[in-house]
Amino acid sequence: MAECSPAVAMVKEECADADVQGQLCQDIERVLISAEEIQDRIRELGRQIDERYSGKDLLLIAVLKGSIVFIADLMRAISIPHEVDFLATSSYGASSTSSGVVRIMKDLNEPIEGRHALLVEDIIDSGHTLAYLTRLFSARNPASLEIVTLLDKPSRREVDIELFWTGFSVPNEFVIGYGLDFNQKYRNLPYIGVLKPEVYEPGSE
Ligand code: IMP
Ligand code: MG
Repeated sequence: MAECSPAVAMVKEECADADVQGQLCQDIERVLISAEEIQDRIRELGRQIDERYSGKDLLLIAVLKGSIVFIADLMRAISIPHEVDFLATSSYGASSTSSGVVRIMKDLNEPIEGRHALLVEDIIDSGHTLAYLTRLFSARNPASLEIVTLLDKPSRREVDIELFWTGFSVPNEFVIGYGLDFNQKYRNLPYIGVLKPEVYEPGSE
């Protein structure tokens, strides 16, 4: 029997101890970043954020819904006092490519004037969402405005984004898991993976 590649073996390993996710696991082609790698990187980011914002009025702002899992782990990796707030932008709907159109579906509850705002994103793809949010929030006069993103897809950038921290760079592929969805599903997988093509392109088999 042919040996399976390390990436496929990793899907099997990750799936083996996740009975409840077994059905979702069947749709995964490869694991790009394991649950353990994600947690290790988040601990490092937490320590860097502690140092940078020590003694400052830090407000983490998560962009719903993709960032919920990341912010939940990141805030627990940060040991300095801070607050969190949430914002929702329009999503891609059932498509797997960016429309470039950004709409605010839910604004922040808190004013950010004079505070140190740190935007927490799941992934930067074309950059349109963050370019828009950076303009919107800068106009509210925060003491500082920076970005931390779990994933970056630099090959897809259409607009320049300045100053952000990145967990991992990923290739130009549609990724799911750890908060990221396709058609609102797969957010509960603990790792970042790539779907089998037939899942998002029915008939391509
Ligand atoms: P951007 O405006 O093109 O930079 O991307 C905006 C949003 O699209 C991201 O914050 C994600 O929520 C979503 N997105 C982009 N690429 C992916 C992907 O590969 N998988 C899942 N969601 C994605
Ligand atoms: Mg997002």
